[in-house]
Amino acid sequence: MLPTTPQASAAQGLKGPVMMSAPKLKLVGIGGSLRKASCNKGLLRAGLEYANTLPGIDAVTADYSQLPLYNGDLETKEGDIIRFPPEVEEFRALVASADAFLFAVPEYNYSLPGVLKNAIDWASRAPNCFADKPAAVLAAGGISGGMRSANHLRQVGVFLDLHFINKPELHVQIFSKPSPFDAEGNVIDEKTTERIHRVVDSLRAFTYRLHRAAKTEQ
Ligand SMILES: Cc1cc2nc3c(=O)[nH]c(=O)nc-3n(C[C@H](O)[C@H](O)[C@H](O)COP(=O)(O)O)c2cc1C
Repeated sequence: MLPTTPQASAAQGLKGPVMMSAPKLKLVGIGGSLRKASCNKGLLRAGLEYANTLPGIDAVTADYSQLPLYNGDLETKEGDIIRFPPEVEEFRALVASADAFLFAVPEYNYSLPGVLKNAIDWASRAPNCFADKPAAVLAAGGISGGMRSANHLRQVGVFLDLHFINKPELHVQIFSKPSPFDAEGNVIDEKTTERIHRVVDSLRAFTYRLHRAAKTEQ
């Protein structure tokens, strides 16, 4: 994770002022479908693979498939600190370690899938692991290409205090002919791949802008 203060810099073993070049920007990918051959997993793979070719980025995927359904009774309190089940603690730690997020969401009944919302709800519990971080959303769905789902995620992001990049947008219609995906959900269309790369470029630039701004505030 990029340090934003001299104290954070020192905590990461860095000498002197905050260094932009030494620590890598950690990009965490969060998909909205658990399906093995998910097209949205395919979008995410294409985005994260590209991100890992860029200097200064470490991109990883979050697996939240083992999380329990959110239930406040699974939380315990130690003083002011909330403790969570082990799978939840692990997921929260990954989210908290991120500098930026890349989401890829299908549309379920005009909104985001319940499994994704469940994972978000766990990570939003205090302290909110998403707070004040940049994000981008890709979407693959039916006729609207997942646009409604992506927009609902942006709305959820308001309360999470996520900062979504506005452009470029990417909404892929899964039934397009020829299909932009193969049978495993991999993106096989060059134009779609190119557009995914531009989203990642924009998220990367925005993340560095936020870090530079935080640095000049000190
Ligand atoms: C429960 C359910 C509800 C869906 N609702 C919508 C919808 O409202 N609009 C839409 O365009 N597609 C809808 N779909 C189709 C999915 O968006 C589409 O199958 C998507 O590609 C699945 O993503 P995946 O390949 O990443 O699993 C729905 C699919 C499911 C399973």
